[in-house]
Amino acid sequence: MKQAISLRVNSDEHVVSVDLDRTLVSVLREDLGLTGTKVGCGGGDCGACTVLIDGRTVTSCLVLAVEAEGREIMTVEGLARSGTELHPIQQAFVEKGAIQCGFCTPGMEMSAYSLLSRDRRPTEAEIRMGLSGNLCRCTGYNKIVEAVEVAAMTRGEPAGASASAGSLLSGAGAEDHEGGPVSPLAGGGYTAPATVEEVCRLLADANGNAVLIAGGTDLIPKLKAAAPQARPTVIIGLRRIPELAELVCDITTGLRIGAMVRLADVGDHPGVRALYPAVAEAAATIGTPQIRNMGTVIGNLCNAAPSADSAPVLLALDAVVHVAGPTGRRSLRLAEFFRGPGATSLGPAEIVTALEVPPPAPRSGLSYQHMSQRGRVDISAVGVAASVILADDGSCKQVRIVLGGVGPTPLQVPSAETLLEGAALDAEVIDSAAEVAADAARPISDVRASVGYRLRMVRVLVARALAEAMARASADGPSCSSSTGESICGEISADPDSPAGEGRQP
Ligand SMILES: Cc1cc2nc3c(=O)[nH]c(=O)nc-3n(C[C@H](O)[C@H](O)[C@H](O)COP(=O)(O)OP(=O)(O)OC[C@H]3O[C@@H](n4cnc5c(N)ncnc54)[C@H](O)[C@@H]3O)c2cc1C
Ligand code: FES
Ligand code: FES
Repeated sequence: MKQAISLRVNSDEHVVSVDLDRTLVSVLREDLGLTGTKVGCGGGDCGACTVLIDGRTVTSCLVLAVEAEGREIMTVEGLARSGTELHPIQQAFVEKGAIQCGFCTPGMEMSAYSLLSRDRRPTEAEIRMGLSGNLCRCTGYNKIVEAVEVAAMTRGEPAGASASAGSLLSGAGAEDHEGGPVSPLAGGGYTAPATVEEVCRLLADANGNAVLIAGGTDLIPKLKAAAPQARPTVIIGLRRIPELAELVCDITTGLRIGAMVRLADVGDHPGVRALYPAVAEAAATIGTPQIRNMGTVIGNLCNAAPSADSAPVLLALDAVVHVAGPTGRRSLRLAEFFRGPGATSLGPAEIVTALEVPPPAPRSGLSYQHMSQRGRVDISAVGVAASVILADDGSCKQVRIVLGGVGPTPLQVPSAETLLEGAALDAEVIDSAAEVAADAARPISDVRASVGYRLRMVRVLVARALAEAMARASADGPSCSSSTGESICGEISADPDSPAGEGRQP
């Protein structure tokens, strides 16, 4: 069933009639003729389709057109609005020879534009990080980085820097709630209600035939892969609900993350980085800048992948999940939330509204260590979180160890925790705990790593996570020694059994 939506693209208003499953990139290219935006992988990996929504980069191949209604969209055509004069970023790309086949260029330029809108003088490392969600198949990265440096030097004000760019920093911004009309829902379609209660009512009415969308970065690839008859006919967007946009980080009350708070909001939040650095690090490790601008922490949990990077740290912090359903609201420990791969304890018409983490205890430290084939922009083969609270005498008062990617759900390891609690955390006891944790892991071999490699990684990463958590708890420098005096924190080498090729150090 088609729905009429209004899109504001490069400051021009368009009304288009779209099917529920149309992506923004297809509407831009096929309906609006804006073919500057390219399609490469179609799965969020390559960044060729990068556009700005409300001032932030997204991969438009993973955005439903209906979700873009009422938002400010900017494509590469919006960079040089006069049609004759290039934008300083484009000019710099030409001058530095940063274009070979040109396929990646529009996406690169949109990411560069977003970076320079936020940071007028980025370092080379910051430029490389800012472009890390954009692949150049011709591998002209050095020239591209030089071009962005030159564009930064020209000090030209990036045209059209969105006034609403900051509003998404707290999730669904106010302009979202004032955005286009909510589409009617008769016999299927997309709707974006304004309250949690309305979402629950719609879910109950749809009788299993509706799906929620937050950032869509897990959902859209699944919908694309599903047979048309297997796709839900109702999609319920959460972006217009103010309470879901809440991100609060306070030393006395702790951390509260609403269901529409993006990974980038958490990874970049100064309070989260100061009080819960490993939570910010885990969020910042996920995907690319574009994926982190779209995906949410709670979507990462609700997707219930055993390898979800947010899960181990939040489990190690004893997070509580707040849930709403047709009969009211309830809370449960995150440890009770995961039921198996892709399965949670949510009822059919329930949604997660927020999660909460207690304030950090005195002398506590948390660490997240993970390993993936490519190091970055890749799903973790193994992730390990450790949280440590030290007693006054420096011994271990309380510890949590949680393993990701080595079982059907993230696994807490009480047997290793018992070994550590009450003990002085020296290298020998850490080594023993790492062995016990590996015994508790139940990995499988898949495209990312073999069983044997994953078990070795559990040992290495548990030791590494405990060492960092301990160092953070005592505010000492990191200590990474094994009982034999050798460094165990660097023992990551290639997985000889991995069908996907070499393992890399994270
Ligand atoms: C290129 C790429 C790279 C990625 N890299 C990583 C990575 O390195 N590490 C990693 O862990 N993940 C990675 N992911 C997966 C994904 O980006 C994350 O899991 C993301 O956090 C999901 O959040 P979302 O808001 O996009 O969820 P969505 O796709 O919107 O939703 C995911 C699922 O949760 C449900 N849901 C969402 N919100 C709620 C709610 N409030 N209540 C109940 N159900 C809800 C949806 O119905 C859906 O089933 C990657 C994905 C892509 C495309
Ligand atoms: S086409 Fe590759 S990320 Fe969209
Ligand atoms: S210039 Fe060819 S893909 Fe980058």
